[in-house]
Amino acid sequence: MDKIEITGGKPLNGSIEISGAKNAALPLIITSLLTPDTLTLKNVPNLRDVNQLTKILGNHGTDLAVDGKRASGNKYIGETMHLTSRDIVDTTAPYEMVSTMRASFWVLGPLIARCHQAKVSLPGGCAIGTRPVDLHLQGLEDLGATIDLEDGYVIAKAPGGLKGGRVRFQKVSVGATINVLMAATLAKGETIIENAAVEPEIGDVANCLVKMGAKIEGIGRKTLQIQGVDHLEGAVHTVLPDRIETGTFLMAVAATGGDVILKGAVPDTLTAAIEVLKEAGVEIEEVSAGLRVSRKNGALKPIHVETQPHPGFPTDLQAQLMALMTIAEGRSVIRETIFENRFMHVQELARLGANISLNGDTAIIEGVKELRGAPVMATDLRASVSLVIAGLVASGKTQINRVYHLDRGFEKIEEKLGNCGAEINRVSE
Ligand code: EPZ
Repeated sequence: MDKIEITGGKPLNGSIEISGAKNAALPLIITSLLTPDTLTLKNVPNLRDVNQLTKILGNHGTDLAVDGKRASGNKYIGETMHLTSRDIVDTTAPYEMVSTMRASFWVLGPLIARCHQAKVSLPGGCAIGTRPVDLHLQGLEDLGATIDLEDGYVIAKAPGGLKGGRVRFQKVSVGATINVLMAATLAKGETIIENAAVEPEIGDVANCLVKMGAKIEGIGRKTLQIQGVDHLEGAVHTVLPDRIETGTFLMAVAATGGDVILKGAVPDTLTAAIEVLKEAGVEIEEVSAGLRVSRKNGALKPIHVETQPHPGFPTDLQAQLMALMTIAEGRSVIRETIFENRFMHVQELARLGANISLNGDTAIIEGVKELRGAPVMATDLRASVSLVIAGLVASGKTQINRVYHLDRGFEKIEEKLGNCGAEINRVSE
């Protein structure tokens, strides 16, 4: 299994190209199940989760072609994928596939919308919390599907097709919003989704669906209005840049010091995180290429933050912010309100010398003068990258085990950081 070794203490200087967003690419790939025509997606990041999802779609009958050459020759520009789901040959998403990646559960909406039936394994719990799917199922029932649970599978049926309806989510959910939105595009009549999530990735999916012929009003707002259509067509769509990768590099530079341009970053998609970092004393400015981040001198100021659905501070940047605050001057408080168990990085950060105590959903971080390198391991994607940030500032060598978590969501991270002066290497065994 690969490891990453970092010798910390080097400032980051230069530029980093931001990749396409994982959490937009995954549902965009799934939208191809809604049409027999070809959906072409550009700027798809080359990630383990993306590769895994294309295998799952292959099982349903989707043909995949990836452009062999990239015209610009820029290795971070991302892949162009052509997905064609001419015939859905299997409406079952088996446990072996869904259990390896939670977002694959989102095939449920498109399958029932297009094939009027689907059998999809329940995703089960995961390292960051229980993560139920009740909102997904309630939303699809509101569109006329009957749902049964049998042997760990969701069996959904809608003989004659889904019918538009009113869906009001009791809690904001990214996945449930995407699942029901995709399903509603092919339902008969009008669907209203209230209390929809407004994460930028949902807007990206909705914009792609509109290109495919869907009729959606209210994109980017908490109420979505969808007029169902008979069929969707092929389209060409470019995946939006990854705001979580952007935020992660902002925090890496804030931690190590230096001056870096994040090319292609879209500041509007991470306003809350930028505000928090500015409050902590990090310099961030919009430039024509994207964002410029620097910290030349002066200690980091502590912060008080709680995670919230967009446009609040994202849970997917909580671990990275915590790594940064371990070296701030004073006490920071970070409250996690989205997932009940997203603090696995705390113990590992402690191995590097961080002083963090937990009280329920709240972490109290007393800044220390320095972190010291050590072997560490992480159990989820964002926790792993928080250890990379900590390793970049720690004195001596940090060895990060279970790198496959990192490969699920960060494209060529060691190359991107290495090009800016970090001493970071992948060790294959
Ligand atoms: C998406 O997960 C993202 N995944 C997550 O990113 C992200 O952390 C999360 O949204 C929140 O922003 C992808 O985009 C692939 P939710 P999702 O449904 O859709 C509860 C990463 O690191 N809930 O918005 O699964 C749930 O338990 C990943 O890239 C229900 O109660 O998250 C949680 O407390 C990790 N019932 C809250 O809602 C439901 O039916 C928000 O979850 C669904 C969710």
